[in-house]
Formats: sequence, C-alpha cells, structure tokens
Amino acid sequence: MERLQKLIAQSGICSRRKAEELILAGKVKVNGKVVSTLGTKADFSDSITVNGKTISRDEKVYYVLNKPKGCVTTVKDDKDRQTVMDYVPANVRVFPVGRLDYDTSGVLLLTNDGAFANKMMHPRYHLPKTYEVNLQGMLTEEDVKKLRRGFTYDGEKFAPAKVFIKNKDVPRDRMQLDLTIYEGKNHQVKKMMEALGYEVRKLHRSRFGFVNVMGMKPGECRRLKPFDVRKLVAMTENEPE
Ligand code: URA
Repeated sequence: MERLQKLIAQSGICSRRKAEELILAGKVKVNGKVVSTLGTKADFSDSITVNGKTISRDEKVYYVLNKPKGCVTTVKDDKDRQTVMDYVPANVRVFPVGRLDYDTSGVLLLTNDGAFANKMMHPRYHLPKTYEVNLQGMLTEEDVKKLRRGFTYDGEKFAPAKVFIKNKDVPRDRMQLDLTIYEGKNHQVKKMMEALGYEVRKLHRSRFGFVNVMGMKPGECRRLKPFDVRKLVAMTENEPE
C-alpha cells in the first residue's frame, strides 16, 4: 500500500504536489468513493480515478526536448498557442519538468515520472541549469560580483550563480554570457538581469544538470537513456536533504 498522492504521481499524470491538490479538491476517487484528505493509502489493484479517469501504473519515460521559441511549457493552452507537447511523439503521455518561457529555447525535460520531476525541480537539490544569455548592455565588474555572490532585490533573494562572459559587442552595447543558476524561480534569469538594470534579448537553456541539446534541432525530442536518468537522480542524492 502506498499513499494515494504517490500512486497518482507514479501513474505519470502529474506531480505529487499537484496530486495532493487534486485530492484536497475532491477530484480523486478510490473504489468509487471520493477521498479528499491526505494520508489515505491504496494500491494499483484499487480502482483509482482522477477527474473521472482511471489511472494505472505506467512505464516511466523520460525525454529531452530542444524547446523552440514560440511555444508554451504546458500540456494544454487555453489560448490555443503551440505547446511543448506538439513536439513530443503523439502516443506519449508526459508532462514538462519545470518551465521555460514562451520566448526561451533549449533543454526541457519531460516525463511521466512524478517523483523524478519533483526531484529535478525541488530547490533543495540545487541542480545546475546553464543559460546562454544575450544581453542588451554590458555587465560591470560590480554586477558580475553581485551575481557570483548572490544578492537580494525587491525582497527576492538570488543565490550565487556562475558567470562566464563569452563575447562583448561594444559598438552595439551587447554581451553574451553563460549563467549557471542552482534554483529555478519563475523567469529567474530575466528577473536577475532586470534587477541589475539590463534587458535579456535572447535566452537559451544549454544544460540541465549534465543534459544538453547539442546537435539537436529546435523542436527535436529524444528519449533519455536509463543511465542518464540514474545519473540525474544521483545528482540529487549527493545533495543534503
Ligand atoms: N529564466 C527566465 O527568465 N526564463 C526562462 O525561461 C528560464 C529561466
């Protein structure tokens, strides 16, 4: 017997946290009865429905997409825009691990393994994410120090990041840098740059942990190898709880 939210996450339909919300919202039934409190245990021989749909134990699958610009990181969009799911093989039921902005490209993991997704996203594991940033303006030495030390802006705390300046275009007052962050707040890179007074012109996530999209065209999707999945999980296991 397992906790209901764990079984729901294992079925691949959503994360464990989202499953808890669904339970509390009364959307989950076990053997025909609504369960709306956390802590109930069940197993896959029970009939478990979420929003009226029966769930089952799915094979766990893991993909990496080279997300193109111009699509939203959701499974469905109420404004009918393109979503990242348009780039995943049609028969695969997965959800994105975290989120990239509409105009951001690069590494996006997708899976039906809720426990894995939670590990990849949880801030306490500090998984490195590297972004190629095209910036309007030139970071000063003081700005670079701030990014490396971590700083607070408008009550929001940004942990120390790695900065590698790749290119400076003095005539056009632009620069390119690699920024590695270890947390994953919404719009984090743009927020950090805006806090320092700069505008991000272009953003591409080049690495998530060690996973990259080198050699993959925008919109191309590939299965992650079991070894890669184990290595990603191991990266979280080396971190303090
Ligand atoms: N930071 C951002 O500002 N946007 C993204 O899409 C990812 C990180």
